[in-house]
Amino acid sequence: MRLFLDTANIEHIKHGVRLGIISGVTTNPSLVSKEGKVNYKKLVQEICAIVPGPVSTEVISQDSAGMISEAREIATWAKNVVVKIPAGLEGIEATHALAKEKIKVNFTLCFSVNQALMAALAGAAYVSPFVGRLDDIGKNGMQVVEDIMLVYKQYPEIKTEVIAASIRHPQHCLAAAKTGAHIATVPYQVLLQMAKHPLTDIGIARFNDDWRKVMGDVKNI
Ligand code: E4P
Repeated sequence: MRLFLDTANIEHIKHGVRLGIISGVTTNPSLVSKEGKVNYKKLVQEICAIVPGPVSTEVISQDSAGMISEAREIATWAKNVVVKIPAGLEGIEATHALAKEKIKVNFTLCFSVNQALMAALAGAAYVSPFVGRLDDIGKNGMQVVEDIMLVYKQYPEIKTEVIAASIRHPQHCLAAAKTGAHIATVPYQVLLQMAKHPLTDIGIARFNDDWRKVMGDVKNI
């Protein structure tokens, strides 16, 4: 499973890319707004220049014609930009039109297997089931990801990749990997948590103490 960062924060993205484990980024209007009143195009282009992979950014329009014209413009911003189109009938129509023009779509705000199936039929490059938001309303978000993977596997002609989104904690990420999801898009804080283990910290401290007791501050090289 690949990891994307779910943020529009440049410093966090640079760190993720330096770590060498982030192969894409997803943003949405809320994440972009967190960065203040920015120049949207410039911000997306900066992210696209940093990230060695797809960068998803979302349209604001709610009707298919508006989504299509926004997406056409966004698609000119960078080679690795992917346009996020929200689920629903308007979004399906827009996805179909954009896919015909070879514009890559991330079909977002997906909450059901049927929506994911329609995303694939419309030609979306990615579909993003929102795990955390389903959990928030008492549903099992990861079950939806698992079921999408199961259905997609029945039809090898489906090339749409599944991005487990709305990830809230490292356990979500582990569970997403177990479903075989192609990608999980994780908030920066979750990425940091994933790398942490208390026994790793205790182990490093103990090795250093033992070394210093005998060797003092001398390095081993
Ligand atoms: C990613 O594509 C989504 O925009 C994001 O994961 C939503 O996460 P949230 O439910 O925590 O806002």
